[in-house]
Amino acid sequence: MRVIYQSKNGKTRKLAEAIAEAAGHIECNDLEHGYDVSKIAEGELIFLGSGVYGGKSGDKVITFVRELKKSKKKVRLALFGSSNGKGKAVKALRKITTKNGFNPIGEDYNCPGKFLFFHPSRPNQADINAARNYAERMTKN
Ligand SMILES: Cc1cc2nc3c(=O)[nH]c(=O)nc-3n(C[C@H](O)[C@H](O)[C@H](O)COP(=O)(O)O)c2cc1C
Repeated sequence: MRVIYQSKNGKTRKLAEAIAEAAGHIECNDLEHGYDVSKIAEGELIFLGSGVYGGKSGDKVITFVRELKKSKKKVRLALFGSSNGKGKAVKALRKITTKNGFNPIGEDYNCPGKFLFFHPSRPNQADINAARNYAERMTKN
């Protein structure tokens, strides 16, 4: 089990770190530092997170999903992210993952993320708690 994410401006990172801790202090990997898909085990649960930028997931998340497809590993993907528009980060993640042949878990977690003058101070403590609860539910299944 691990968290893998891209966060250009730090909001998704806050969620990623909360999820990693709540799931039992699992590895939390920022794709800005690159990622070697060979580390991933067959059947593993991966929390995959991103903001959304111009309607798309982060470029490094897109590259990661393509690499994961090439590796032919069967994994379980639990999606999370932050966006200005309601649900837009996980919508983009669902699009890129299903396009590459994955079937992500039905439940996901999308938090409003501060953008210009929208959603100031989000994610806030309640959002972090909701991310933690999401991680706990996913790890019990
Ligand atoms: C260049 C740019 C483009 C964005 N495009 C969208 C978008 O198309 N839809 C949306 O809902 N939010 C959009 N946003 C808002 C971000 O998704 C939101 O601020 C998110 O919390 C960013 O996550 P991050 O801090 O982890 O990078 C955009 C933000 C930036 C900076």
